[in-house]
Amino acid sequence: MAQWVMLMCFLLLNLEMLESTTIMLGNYPSVSYPKSCKELLHLYGCLPDGLYFLSTSSGTSYLTFCDMTTDGGGWTLVASIHENNMYGKCTVGDRWSSQQGNNENVPEGDGNWSNKVTFGTVEAASSDDFKNPGYYEIIAEDMSVWHVPNGANVDNWKPSSIFRYHTQKNFLTQYGGNLYNLYKAYPVRYNAGVCHTNTGPSIPIVYDFGNDESLSTLYGPNSKREYEPGYITFRAFNNEKAALALCSGLKPKGCNIEHFCIGGGGFFAEGSGRQCGDFAGFDWNGYGTHSQWSASKEMTESVVMLFYR
Ligand code: G3P
Ligand code: CA
Ligand code: CA
Ligand code: CA
Repeated sequence: MAQWVMLMCFLLLNLEMLESTTIMLGNYPSVSYPKSCKELLHLYGCLPDGLYFLSTSSGTSYLTFCDMTTDGGGWTLVASIHENNMYGKCTVGDRWSSQQGNNENVPEGDGNWSNKVTFGTVEAASSDDFKNPGYYEIIAEDMSVWHVPNGANVDNWKPSSIFRYHTQKNFLTQYGGNLYNLYKAYPVRYNAGVCHTNTGPSIPIVYDFGNDESLSTLYGPNSKREYEPGYITFRAFNNEKAALALCSGLKPKGCNIEHFCIGGGGFFAEGSGRQCGDFAGFDWNGYGTHSQWSASKEMTESVVMLFYR
Protein backbone atom coordinates (compact mmCIF):
# COMPACT_ATOMS: atom_id res chain seq x y z
CA MET A 1 0.00 0.00 0.00
CA ALA A 2 2.70 2.45 1.03
CA GLN A 3 4.57 1.66 -2.17
CA TRP A 4 1.47 2.51 -4.23
CA VAL A 5 1.11 5.83 -2.43
CA MET A 6 4.76 6.58 -3.16
CA LEU A 7 4.31 5.62 -6.80
CA MET A 8 1.22 7.82 -7.18
CA CYS A 9 3.05 10.72 -5.57
CA PHE A 10 6.00 10.20 -7.89
CA LEU A 11 3.88 10.06 -11.05
CA LEU A 12 2.02 13.17 -9.98
CA LEU A 13 5.30 14.98 -9.39
CA ASN A 14 6.61 14.19 -12.85
CA LEU A 15 3.36 15.18 -14.59
CA GLU A 16 3.12 18.49 -12.75
CA MET A 17 6.77 19.27 -13.34
CA LEU A 18 6.25 18.80 -17.07
CA GLU A 19 2.97 20.73 -17.21
CA SER A 20 3.47 23.67 -14.93
CA THR A 21 7.10 24.63 -14.77
CA THR A 22 8.40 24.86 -18.32
CA ILE A 23 8.58 28.49 -19.42
CA MET A 24 9.94 29.52 -22.83
CA LEU A 25 12.65 32.18 -22.71
CA GLY A 26 13.44 33.09 -26.32
CA ASN A 27 14.03 29.72 -27.93
CA TYR A 28 15.28 28.13 -24.74
CA PRO A 29 13.03 26.39 -22.26
CA SER A 30 13.66 27.57 -18.71
CA VAL A 31 12.45 25.24 -16.01
CA SER A 32 12.05 26.41 -12.48
CA TYR A 33 11.86 24.07 -9.52
CA PRO A 34 11.18 24.57 -5.83
CA LYS A 35 13.96 26.22 -3.79
CA SER A 36 14.35 23.44 -1.24
CA CYS A 37 13.32 19.86 -0.48
CA LYS A 38 11.01 21.28 2.19
CA GLU A 39 9.15 23.37 -0.43
CA LEU A 40 9.02 20.37 -2.73
CA LEU A 41 7.55 18.16 -0.02
CA HIS A 42 4.95 20.79 0.86
CA LEU A 43 3.93 20.97 -2.79
CA TYR A 44 3.48 17.23 -3.24
CA GLY A 45 2.60 15.98 0.21
CA CYS A 46 4.68 12.83 0.13
CA LEU A 47 7.76 11.87 -1.82
CA PRO A 48 10.47 9.24 -1.51
CA ASP A 49 14.10 9.96 -0.53
CA GLY A 50 16.19 10.57 -3.63
CA LEU A 51 17.60 13.01 -6.15
CA TYR A 52 15.53 16.06 -7.15
CA PHE A 53 16.08 19.27 -9.07
CA LEU A 54 15.92 22.54 -7.16
CA SER A 55 16.31 26.12 -8.41
CA THR A 56 18.06 29.18 -7.03
CA SER A 57 16.41 32.62 -6.94
CA SER A 58 18.42 33.60 -10.02
CA GLY A 59 17.06 30.60 -11.94
CA THR A 60 20.01 28.20 -11.86
CA SER A 61 18.86 24.61 -11.45
CA TYR A 62 20.81 21.94 -9.67
CA LEU A 63 20.34 18.34 -8.66
CA THR A 64 20.62 17.31 -5.04
CA PHE A 65 19.46 14.69 -2.57
CA CYS A 66 16.31 15.11 -0.50
CA ASP A 67 15.69 13.14 2.68
CA MET A 68 11.89 13.07 2.55
CA THR A 69 11.32 10.71 5.45
CA THR A 70 13.49 11.41 8.53
CA ASP A 71 11.40 13.22 11.18
CA GLY A 72 8.78 14.23 8.60
CA GLY A 73 11.28 14.80 5.75
CA GLY A 74 12.05 17.93 3.77
CA TRP A 75 15.83 17.85 4.31
CA THR A 76 18.03 19.30 1.53
CA LEU A 77 21.60 18.05 1.09
CA VAL A 78 23.71 21.20 0.73
CA ALA A 79 27.27 20.00 1.36
CA SER A 80 29.57 17.07 2.01
CA ILE A 81 32.97 17.16 3.71
CA HIS A 82 35.17 14.38 2.36
CA GLU A 83 38.78 13.58 3.26
CA ASN A 84 40.32 12.23 0.07
CA ASN A 85 43.85 11.88 1.45
CA MET A 86 44.50 11.87 5.18
CA TYR A 87 48.23 11.89 4.42
CA GLY A 88 47.85 15.02 2.28
CA LYS A 89 48.04 17.94 4.70
CA CYS A 90 46.23 20.96 3.25
CA THR A 91 46.77 19.59 -0.22
CA VAL A 92 44.48 19.00 -3.21
CA GLY A 93 40.95 18.02 -2.14
CA ASP A 94 41.16 19.75 1.26
CA ARG A 95 38.53 22.28 0.14
CA TRP A 96 36.94 22.64 3.59
CA SER A 97 40.30 23.67 5.08
CA SER A 98 43.04 24.64 2.66
CA GLN A 99 44.49 23.31 -0.57
CA GLN A 100 47.30 25.86 -0.27
CA GLY A 101 49.54 24.26 2.32
CA ASN A 102 49.78 24.97 6.04
CA ASN A 103 50.33 28.72 5.88
CA GLU A 104 50.03 31.36 8.58
CA ASN A 105 49.60 33.97 5.83
CA VAL A 106 46.45 32.25 4.53
CA PRO A 107 44.51 32.19 7.83
CA GLU A 108 41.12 31.37 6.27
CA GLY A 109 42.48 28.69 3.96
CA ASP A 110 40.16 28.19 0.98
CA GLY A 111 37.37 30.09 2.78
CA ASN A 112 34.60 27.79 1.55
CA TRP A 113 32.57 27.83 4.80
CA SER A 114 31.66 31.46 4.17
CA ASN A 115 31.83 32.03 0.43
CA LYS A 116 29.61 31.26 -2.56
CA VAL A 117 32.00 28.94 -4.36
CA THR A 118 30.26 25.65 -5.25
CA PHE A 119 31.85 22.33 -6.21
CA GLY A 120 31.18 18.66 -6.83
CA THR A 121 28.08 16.77 -7.87
CA VAL A 122 25.44 15.06 -5.79
CA GLU A 123 26.14 11.63 -7.27
CA ALA A 124 29.76 11.97 -6.13
CA ALA A 125 28.96 13.52 -2.73
CA SER A 126 30.24 10.42 -0.92
CA SER A 127 33.42 10.33 -3.02
CA ASP A 128 34.49 13.98 -3.03
CA ASP A 129 33.56 17.35 -1.52
CA PHE A 130 30.17 18.75 -2.52
CA LYS A 131 28.70 22.23 -2.07
CA ASN A 132 25.64 23.50 -3.95
CA PRO A 133 23.92 26.92 -4.04
CA GLY A 134 21.45 25.76 -1.37
CA TYR A 135 24.31 26.12 1.12
CA TYR A 136 24.11 29.93 0.90
CA GLU A 137 20.63 30.45 -0.62
CA ILE A 138 18.20 28.37 1.38
CA ILE A 139 16.87 30.00 4.52
CA ALA A 140 16.50 27.07 6.88
CA GLU A 141 15.71 26.40 10.52
CA ASP A 142 17.39 23.12 11.37
CA MET A 143 20.20 20.82 10.27
CA SER A 144 20.66 17.12 9.82
CA VAL A 145 24.05 15.38 9.54
CA TRP A 146 24.93 11.96 8.10
CA HIS A 147 28.30 10.19 8.30
CA VAL A 148 28.29 7.97 5.20
CA PRO A 149 31.02 5.47 4.20
CA ASN A 150 33.16 6.87 1.38
CA GLY A 151 32.03 5.81 -2.07
CA ALA A 152 28.56 4.57 -1.03
CA ASN A 153 25.91 4.73 -3.75
CA VAL A 154 23.09 7.23 -3.31
CA ASP A 155 20.53 4.51 -2.50
CA ASN A 156 22.81 3.23 0.22
CA TRP A 157 23.66 6.51 1.92
CA LYS A 158 20.99 6.31 4.56
CA PRO A 159 21.09 2.54 5.26
CA SER A 160 24.90 2.48 5.42
CA SER A 161 25.32 5.63 7.58
CA ILE A 162 27.44 5.08 10.68
CA PHE A 163 25.92 8.08 12.51
CA ARG A 164 22.91 10.35 11.78
CA TYR A 165 21.18 13.08 13.77
CA HIS A 166 19.27 16.35 13.47
CA THR A 167 18.58 19.52 15.43
CA GLN A 168 14.99 20.48 16.22
CA LYS A 169 14.64 23.93 17.78
CA ASN A 170 15.00 26.19 14.70
CA PHE A 171 18.48 27.29 15.79
CA LEU A 172 19.48 28.52 12.32
CA THR A 173 16.92 31.31 12.55
CA GLN A 174 19.22 33.01 15.06
CA TYR A 175 22.22 32.74 12.72
CA GLY A 176 20.87 34.03 9.40
CA GLY A 177 19.15 30.82 8.27
CA ASN A 178 22.15 28.95 6.90
CA LEU A 179 25.83 28.12 7.44
CA TYR A 180 27.01 30.75 4.98
CA ASN A 181 25.59 33.45 7.27
CA LEU A 182 26.57 31.62 10.46
CA TYR A 183 30.22 31.41 9.40
CA LYS A 184 30.26 35.08 8.34
CA ALA A 185 29.52 35.79 12.01
CA TYR A 186 31.93 33.08 13.27
CA PRO A 187 34.85 33.16 10.81
CA VAL A 188 36.81 29.95 10.34
CA ARG A 189 40.11 31.80 10.52
CA TYR A 190 43.36 31.00 12.31
CA ASN A 191 43.97 33.33 15.27
CA ALA A 192 40.47 34.90 15.11
CA GLY A 193 39.93 33.68 18.66
CA VAL A 194 41.05 31.23 21.32
CA CYS A 195 39.90 27.95 22.81
CA HIS A 196 36.84 28.15 25.14
CA THR A 197 36.33 31.95 24.96
CA ASN A 198 35.46 32.12 21.27
CA THR A 199 33.67 28.83 20.68
CA GLY A 200 30.67 29.29 18.38
CA PRO A 201 27.19 27.86 18.97
CA SER A 202 26.72 24.31 20.34
CA ILE A 203 23.25 23.00 19.47
CA PRO A 204 21.59 19.92 21.04
CA ILE A 205 20.90 17.05 18.65
CA VAL A 206 18.41 14.18 18.36
CA TYR A 207 19.94 10.91 17.13
CA ASP A 208 18.44 9.19 14.08
CA PHE A 209 21.10 6.48 14.08
CA GLY A 210 23.58 6.07 16.93
CA ASN A 211 23.66 7.47 20.46
CA ASP A 212 25.95 9.25 22.95
CA GLU A 213 28.11 6.13 23.21
CA SER A 214 28.64 5.89 19.43
CA LEU A 215 31.08 8.78 19.60
CA SER A 216 33.58 6.70 21.57
CA THR A 217 33.68 4.18 18.70
CA LEU A 218 34.17 6.97 16.16
CA TYR A 219 36.68 9.32 17.82
CA GLY A 220 39.87 8.31 19.66
CA PRO A 221 39.87 7.19 23.30
CA ASN A 222 41.88 10.24 24.48
CA SER A 223 39.30 12.51 22.87
CA LYS A 224 36.53 11.22 25.10
CA ARG A 225 37.59 13.36 28.07
CA GLU A 226 37.64 16.44 25.83
CA TYR A 227 34.00 16.52 24.70
CA GLU A 228 30.40 16.23 25.83
CA PRO A 229 28.24 14.18 23.45
CA GLY A 230 24.82 15.22 22.12
CA TYR A 231 25.56 18.47 20.27
CA ILE A 232 26.75 19.93 17.02
CA THR A 233 29.25 22.77 17.45
CA PHE A 234 30.18 25.42 14.93
CA ARG A 235 33.63 27.09 14.83
CA ALA A 236 35.94 26.37 17.70
CA PHE A 237 39.64 27.00 18.34
CA ASN A 238 42.27 24.55 19.55
CA ASN A 239 45.22 25.16 21.89
CA GLU A 240 47.23 26.74 19.08
CA LYS A 241 44.42 29.04 17.84
CA ALA A 242 43.70 26.95 14.76
CA ALA A 243 40.05 27.39 13.74
CA LEU A 244 37.99 24.21 13.24
CA ALA A 245 34.62 24.57 11.47
CA LEU A 246 32.36 21.82 12.76
CA CYS A 247 32.41 19.37 15.67
CA SER A 248 29.93 16.65 14.80
CA GLY A 249 27.95 15.03 17.62
CA LEU A 250 29.57 16.91 20.47
CA LYS A 251 30.47 20.05 22.38
CA PRO A 252 34.22 20.48 23.05
CA LYS A 253 35.37 20.67 26.67
CA GLY A 254 39.13 20.51 26.09
CA CYS A 255 41.34 22.22 23.53
CA ASN A 256 42.77 19.33 21.50
CA ILE A 257 39.72 19.59 19.26
CA GLU A 258 41.63 18.85 16.06
CA HIS A 259 41.06 15.15 16.72
CA PHE A 260 37.25 15.33 16.59
CA CYS A 261 36.34 18.52 14.72
CA ILE A 262 36.53 18.91 10.94
CA GLY A 263 37.16 21.61 8.35
CA GLY A 264 39.15 24.67 9.25
CA GLY A 265 41.29 27.62 8.36
CA GLY A 266 44.66 27.53 6.66
CA PHE A 267 47.06 27.24 9.59
CA PHE A 268 47.53 24.61 12.29
CA ALA A 269 50.62 25.36 14.36
CA GLU A 270 51.00 22.04 16.19
CA GLY A 271 53.06 19.28 14.56
CA SER A 272 54.38 21.36 11.63
CA GLY A 273 51.19 21.13 9.60
CA ARG A 274 50.32 17.52 10.47
CA GLN A 275 46.84 18.69 11.54
CA CYS A 276 46.06 20.76 8.44
CA GLY A 277 43.33 19.20 6.30
CA ASP A 278 39.60 18.49 6.06
CA PHE A 279 39.77 15.87 8.83
CA ALA A 280 42.45 17.81 10.76
CA GLY A 281 44.24 15.58 13.30
CA PHE A 282 42.09 12.44 12.97
CA ASP A 283 45.31 10.46 12.31
CA TRP A 284 47.50 11.95 15.07
CA ASN A 285 48.41 8.50 16.46
CA GLY A 286 48.21 6.68 13.15
CA TYR A 287 45.67 6.38 10.33
CA GLY A 288 42.43 4.76 11.46
CA THR A 289 44.05 3.15 14.51
CA HIS A 290 41.41 4.29 17.01
CA SER A 291 44.20 4.52 19.57
CA GLN A 292 45.08 7.55 21.76
CA TRP A 293 43.94 10.59 19.71
CA SER A 294 43.25 8.81 16.42
CA ALA A 295 39.73 8.36 15.11
CA SER A 296 38.50 4.96 13.90
CA LYS A 297 38.97 3.83 10.31
CA GLU A 298 35.17 3.89 9.87
CA MET A 299 35.04 7.55 10.86
CA THR A 300 38.17 8.54 8.92
CA GLU A 301 36.73 6.92 5.80
CA SER A 302 33.21 8.39 6.03
CA VAL A 303 32.06 11.61 4.43
CA VAL A 304 30.07 14.15 6.50
CA MET A 305 26.86 15.21 4.75
CA LEU A 306 25.06 18.40 5.79
CA PHE A 307 21.33 18.93 5.28
CA TYR A 308 19.06 21.93 5.89
CA ARG A 309 15.35 22.06 6.65
O1 G3P B 1 46.41 16.99 20.54
C1 G3P B 1 47.25 16.15 21.22
C2 G3P B 1 48.57 16.77 21.31
O2 G3P B 1 48.47 18.12 21.58
C3 G3P B 1 49.42 16.09 22.29
O3 G3P B 1 49.77 14.96 21.70
O4 G3P B 1 51.33 13.29 21.02
O5 G3P B 1 51.93 14.79 22.95
O6 G3P B 1 50.10 13.06 23.19
P1 G3P B 1 50.88 13.97 22.28
CA1 CA C 1 43.90 15.86 3.31
CA1 CA D 1 37.90 17.29 0.93
CA1 CA E 1 46.62 19.32 20.34
